[in-house]
Amino acid sequence: MGLQLYEYLEGWANFRIMRKEIIAVLIFGIVACGQKQECKKPRPVNPNGDSELALLMRDMFEESDSLKQLIIEGRLLTGLKKYEDIHSAIPTDPTVKGPVFEAFAEAYINSLKELESSDSSSVFKFNTMVDQCMNCHAEFCPGPKKRIKKLYIR
Ligand code: HEC
Repeated sequence: MGLQLYEYLEGWANFRIMRKEIIAVLIFGIVACGQKQECKKPRPVNPNGDSELALLMRDMFEESDSLKQLIIEGRLLTGLKKYEDIHSAIPTDPTVKGPVFEAFAEAYINSLKELESSDSSSVFKFNTMVDQCMNCHAEFCPGPKKRIKKLYIR
């Protein structure tokens, strides 16, 4: 009787321990699955996971938006960032880089230089700069085009 009770209790204890393990395995499985799915997305949600080029682009977007305000208010544009780093920044998709990308990047940087050296027709030159964003995006990264379009000064 004493032994049976002991075996019974031991069996129960084993089951409880196993249950914990089963739950642990299940939780691990769910977490692992979730992470896998995240990897399949084109870009990680985590800011630390974004590519150099993506971060540079966000900066470019912000600066272009500020420039737009300056131009609308008729203020002087000086000391524009030239974003030469666009040539060296590492993209999410390595196949993006190549002569075509370089040509678009150069056209964009030149349009910025044009914009900076203009004291008149800066609205036209600003919109020409936004054209360069759009041209490269049409080729490589159509996603943000809708957002970029809003930069145009109408
Ligand atoms: C020479 C090509 C090129 C030019 C010029 C260019 N882009 Fe991009 N842009 C890209 C590529 C490629 C990506 C994808 C970056 C990545 O995920 O690594 C990108 C990504 C972006 C993103 C998304 C960033 C994010 O949060 O992931 C925005 C916004 C953006 N660009 C805005 C702009 C704006 C505004 C301009 C002009 C001022 C511009 N781009 C000019 C190629 C270009």
